[in-house]
Amino acid sequence: MYSLRLLATTLSTSSLVFGLLGLPSVPSAACLNITSTLGIAQTAVSPLDLRYINSRTSYWNMKLDAHAPACVVYPENAQDVSLILKAIKASGSRFAIKAAGHNTNDLFSSVEDGVLIDLTEMTGKSYDASTTLATYEPGSRWGELYDYYLQYGRTVVGGRVYDVGTGLALGGGVSYLSPQYGMACDSFRELEVVLPSGDIVTASSTQNPDLFFGLRGGGGNAFGVVTKYTVQSRPIGTLYAGNLLYVLDHREAILNATRDFILYNTDPKAAVLMNFNIVTIPDLELGLDQACVMFLVYDGEDPGNAFSNFTAIPSLLNTLGPKTYPQVANLPIPKLAIISRADNIFRIGVHRADDDSYWTAFDRFYQWSQDHKGDYIYVHLDYNPVPKSMTDASRAQGGNAMEMPDGPWFWAEYTITTPPLISTQKYNEIQASFKALVDGTPNAADLPYFLNEAHADQDALKTFSSYPRLQQIKQKYDPDEFFSKKSGGWSFS
Ligand SMILES: Cc1cc2nc3c(=O)[nH]c(=O)nc-3n(C[C@H](O)[C@H](O)[C@H](O)COP(=O)(O)OP(=O)(O)OC[C@H]3O[C@@H](n4cnc5c(N)ncnc54)[C@H](O)[C@@H]3O)c2cc1C
Ligand SMILES: *[C@@H]1O[C@H](CO)[C@@H](O)[C@H](O)[C@H]1NC(C)=O
Ligand SMILES: *[C@@H]1O[C@H](CO)[C@@H](O)[C@H](O)[C@H]1NC(C)=O
Ligand SMILES: *[C@@H]1O[C@H](CO)[C@@H](O)[C@H](O)[C@H]1NC(C)=O
Repeated sequence: MYSLRLLATTLSTSSLVFGLLGLPSVPSAACLNITSTLGIAQTAVSPLDLRYINSRTSYWNMKLDAHAPACVVYPENAQDVSLILKAIKASGSRFAIKAAGHNTNDLFSSVEDGVLIDLTEMTGKSYDASTTLATYEPGSRWGELYDYYLQYGRTVVGGRVYDVGTGLALGGGVSYLSPQYGMACDSFRELEVVLPSGDIVTASSTQNPDLFFGLRGGGGNAFGVVTKYTVQSRPIGTLYAGNLLYVLDHREAILNATRDFILYNTDPKAAVLMNFNIVTIPDLELGLDQACVMFLVYDGEDPGNAFSNFTAIPSLLNTLGPKTYPQVANLPIPKLAIISRADNIFRIGVHRADDDSYWTAFDRFYQWSQDHKGDYIYVHLDYNPVPKSMTDASRAQGGNAMEMPDGPWFWAEYTITTPPLISTQKYNEIQASFKALVDGTPNAADLPYFLNEAHADQDALKTFSSYPRLQQIKQKYDPDEFFSKKSGGWSFS
């Protein structure tokens, strides 16, 4: 009763504030229900509540901050998530599931006037030395997980960047360790899942194996809410890693070296990411407005000749050296390649390194960047190798929802950061032009797009050979189309 009275006071004060801010003045039935069931400690109904502000304004695409949820709820376990989903369903409210909010697509982890389920209170993790299995809940960032498992000399296959969240693994997840162990989702062994019905189930190769298949790279926010991941951990020690920074005059040599690495490197402990960056305001320290930053990571202290094609090209900066795994997640030192919270959008391409698209993707990107100065504050193009060792490692663990054809091939990831304070019309024009740039380079017809870096309008799931099977799985686990209709995410129809 006491907490209900407190709640009533909070609500009437905030209704007033809502009204003043022009925000919805009537709290939704779902929010009232969840607040009375879970208590105010696990809910934030006022847009002035610091937790609400943090949850709402921590999207990597800042445009998503504009959405005002009716409330933000902070489950602590699968039972909480189950209650929350049932209350949302009964009320007819909209909702979104958010881990670390790095997906750049509208309404994938953001919601307007519905319930935002923020998973960041769920940070449990463990390591079992007898099985070498690790567990983590969805609320940590990859860097926090790497810090934790390091005490055991272990790590998990996850993101390359410290701040990114666990939603990455549901979209596949490329790690610097992927050439050895496959995608992040390939290391899943058992998942605790709250289904759209609110039922709490286990997905593994023996329990609900179809659900397990879908969750291995079929995208977050599709089949349920994953509340616990049990994964195969991996040994980790000292790595040899860092960045090489080049002026763009060397672009042909860099593209040659990356192509040769994609086609000929056979050492699965070596991973590279080629990253061309163009900014409109020159980097203060380096005085550059365009550069290539190579990310080079070797899982071991001696890379042999794995990176010598790159070190042979004259570089402005070389930070290669021994590093711990958490340090590897905190590359780069060159500021030019650091993109932070802003009006960021991703798009994806997929190609083979031995055909023309390898060159035309870069040429078209470069030309666009020169022709559209003023339309962006930052653009980049990444080439992300998918070697044969990676697709072999995936298959050896049962394969994933991408059903990745044999490497080598690569994903081309495009990012644009548009200037702040431009009109909606200007914003839409720039995005349409950037889309045309990406669409203009033909993709390899038999290769899957990468969900984690695809734009919602690219319909990435349809490039998976498993798409019909995923549609069936979706229908089985979300038969009322509760998630499809009331939340954002990838379309299955
Ligand atoms: C700086 C940066 C670096 C990146 N580096 C990499 C990289 O190295 N490798 C890579 O593969 N990708 C990378 N990405 C892409 C990244 O994988 C995607 O942005 C991914 O969506 C981020 O997950 P998140 O948890 O941070 O985001 P969120 O937006 O919170 O979640 C992503 C999606 O998954 C859903 N979701 C999250 N958790 C759950 C859950 N427990 N149950 C059900 N659905 C859930 C959300 O609803 C949302 O639709 C990077 C992105 C950025 C911005
Ligand atoms: C909350 O919603 C659930 C699911 O419909 C319902 O069973 C429960 O009675 C509701 N509780 C309150 C306090 O409204
Ligand atoms: C790149 O490789 C091609 C052969 O594929 C070669 O002709 C060209 O000279 C190389 N360029 C540089 C700068 O190394
Ligand atoms: C380096 O480039 C040469 C061709 O110039 C190629 O034969 C070799 O395989 C490359 N090595 C690696 C590790 O990429």
